[in-house]
Amino acid sequence: MAMEIIVQPDARTAARKVAELIGQSLAAQPGLVLGLASGRTMEPVYEELIRMHRQDGLDFSRCRTFNLDEYIGLAADDPRSFHYFMRRHFFDHVNIVSSHAHLPDGMASDLEAECRHYEKLIAANGGIAFQLLGIGLNGHIGFNEPESPLDSRTRVQELSPLTRAQNASSFPSLEEVPQQAITMGIGTILEARRCVLLATGLGKAKIVAKAIEGPLTTTVAATALQLHPNCTVVLDEAAASALKNKIVARE
Ligand code: GLP
Repeated sequence: MAMEIIVQPDARTAARKVAELIGQSLAAQPGLVLGLASGRTMEPVYEELIRMHRQDGLDFSRCRTFNLDEYIGLAADDPRSFHYFMRRHFFDHVNIVSSHAHLPDGMASDLEAECRHYEKLIAANGGIAFQLLGIGLNGHIGFNEPESPLDSRTRVQELSPLTRAQNASSFPSLEEVPQQAITMGIGTILEARRCVLLATGLGKAKIVAKAIEGPLTTTVAATALQLHPNCTVVLDEAAASALKNKIVARE
């Protein structure tokens, strides 16, 4: 099956569409193993999932989650960590069991062991059924920077200057953005039974076109998703604006 591309009028409706896809999977499979992402793009997705929980009774009590990545050197209670982001934007507002919500530990004394442990935990939970993804300006998924091997697993990744600059707004200065992160690998992500990538805004248009229509290359990590048998890309009109092939589903 080729990549399915869904274009929505704006960022809000695109995020709603993604939340709807998650809601459908969770309703069909209450014990869903859900791969989650951080980043500004995801904030309206989590807002919508919280609304669905409160208003429609969407139940997260049996769901287990695995986040893609975490900075190295930031504690879980550090407001700039992805642990904190997830609690603030999602976990604290739904009925997920906190011990079922996993992120890599960026403070682990043995980082290699932590990476192996994370992979084992995913496997012990039956693997990821639904992986939510954003995209970085250089095409990273998770924190898989350019040249990440297709078969890479959860590991320590050096962050590129572009990525650190992109994420600098959450830090007092560029110097304080961590140099490294733990991220699921491209191989880990490709093993998810379904991948759903959300990108919104004009700033993502060029990289989205490369990811979807460009040649498969490790220079743009997200092109690996072209290999995935069940991948949906949800875009707003702005993020879709550089696609050459306009024959996509507009809902
Ligand atoms: C971050 C995360 C990615 C995320 C991307 C885009 O660095 N590691 O998982 O998809 O950058 O972030 P944003 O949604 O803020 O543009």
